[in-house]
Amino acid sequence: MTRHDCRNVPVSHHDQSAIDRLDGLLEDSLAFAGDPVAGADALLAEHPDFIMGHCFKAGLLTQSMEVRIYDEMVSSVEAAEKLAPNANERERGHIAAVRAWIDGDFSLAVQHWEEVVIACPHDLLALQLVHLSDVLLGDTLGQRDSVARVFPLWDEDMPGYEFVLGLYSFGLEENRDFSRAEELGRRAVAMRPAHPYAIHAVAHVLEMSGRQSGGIWWMTSRTADWADSNFDNHLWWHLALFHLDLNQIDTVLSIYDNHLRQRDHIGDKYSELDSAALLWRLNLLGIDVGARWRELADSWEPSATDTLYAFNDVHAMMTFVSDNRTQAASRLLNANERYVDHATDANAAMSRIIGLPFSRALQAFAAGRYDECVDTMIPVRYRTHRLGGSAAQRDIIGWTLLEAALRAKRYRLALALAHERCGTKPTSPQNWNFVARAHKGLGNDALAGKAEARAESLIAA
Ligand SMILES: [Fe+2]
Repeated sequence: MTRHDCRNVPVSHHDQSAIDRLDGLLEDSLAFAGDPVAGADALLAEHPDFIMGHCFKAGLLTQSMEVRIYDEMVSSVEAAEKLAPNANERERGHIAAVRAWIDGDFSLAVQHWEEVVIACPHDLLALQLVHLSDVLLGDTLGQRDSVARVFPLWDEDMPGYEFVLGLYSFGLEENRDFSRAEELGRRAVAMRPAHPYAIHAVAHVLEMSGRQSGGIWWMTSRTADWADSNFDNHLWWHLALFHLDLNQIDTVLSIYDNHLRQRDHIGDKYSELDSAALLWRLNLLGIDVGARWRELADSWEPSATDTLYAFNDVHAMMTFVSDNRTQAASRLLNANERYVDHATDANAAMSRIIGLPFSRALQAFAAGRYDECVDTMIPVRYRTHRLGGSAAQRDIIGWTLLEAALRAKRYRLALALAHERCGTKPTSPQNWNFVARAHKGLGNDALAGKAEARAESLIAA
């Protein structure tokens, strides 16, 4: 029997109350609230024949990129496949997408979800999964265009419009359309203040355009709207980045200790990613972070040989090399080298193109082999988007390369790289500090002094 969800999208299920509950769970997932997977489990316990309920749970699980959820994801899609004879075309598209994901063909999975969105432009679950998968896979254009292709078919009277605005805002930001991204992100937050993804999209605009003080105000004036969400650790990380650029290191460490590594985030992969990314940036600035690497490396070590997601692997590598865990680092590299030799899935390409080179570069950097780090990174530096994540997250690659060039005393190269960074973010004090250090290395003391003064004036401002 066909009924419809709150956006009039067809659902093959007989019980409208179950469909309404699923609408609520989708809203929770988009608002980073509650526990939508546990909610789906409860719903499916009462309605085991609810095809979209299984598709919802399986679809959300694809985004985890963790070994521990794999069996659950497979069980969910198998349950949906058994019910497939009663599924409509949209539901068969969702099932095919998760099956392709499990088979390792992430691009085909995205294609299936895209086909669902084209046929059903108001299928907000499919739209969310296309967009988030594009973020995971580093498909920058897809993050924007997945929403652009249906955006005119939405209007603000439709339930969930503010989430579409949030997705579109982030896609525009990643494609450096900052003014439109900020406009849509702020509109989404005006519609729903507790909208962590839209708050995040605007934070990215502020980060990428070097508006640190504005970023700190944007985040801190809204803490009540995001600090209890399931996205809080990543938003704390963004707040820390603004402080880091202003060289407010005590505040960065306080955010790390009090929010990123709070007990309720231990074991959370997103917390581990953001924590490693923050400590590595501090490491690049030459700041001693004490025993923090040890605790974090303990968290990462069980997943050293996962070979599931290159983005995770490079962050694991940061922790291993920083805590002198040579065996764990070798295990990670060996596992990935064996894996890319025979695997044909999408992650193998990500590992081959950027995951493995960056992991080796991190190892060289930590061992003081800065020339090797530079020479490993230079040929792949414009392929880094293939690692997935956001431009702000991947900035750690360019930053590592530049710091290695400085430490290798390759000051001409360092100056060129520092100038590139100032070209895209001229209001970043850290970028001008790089320029100053490169000039100093070249003996251009007057130019170094000018760049230092610029960095200081930006901090003072
Ligand atoms: Fe982010």
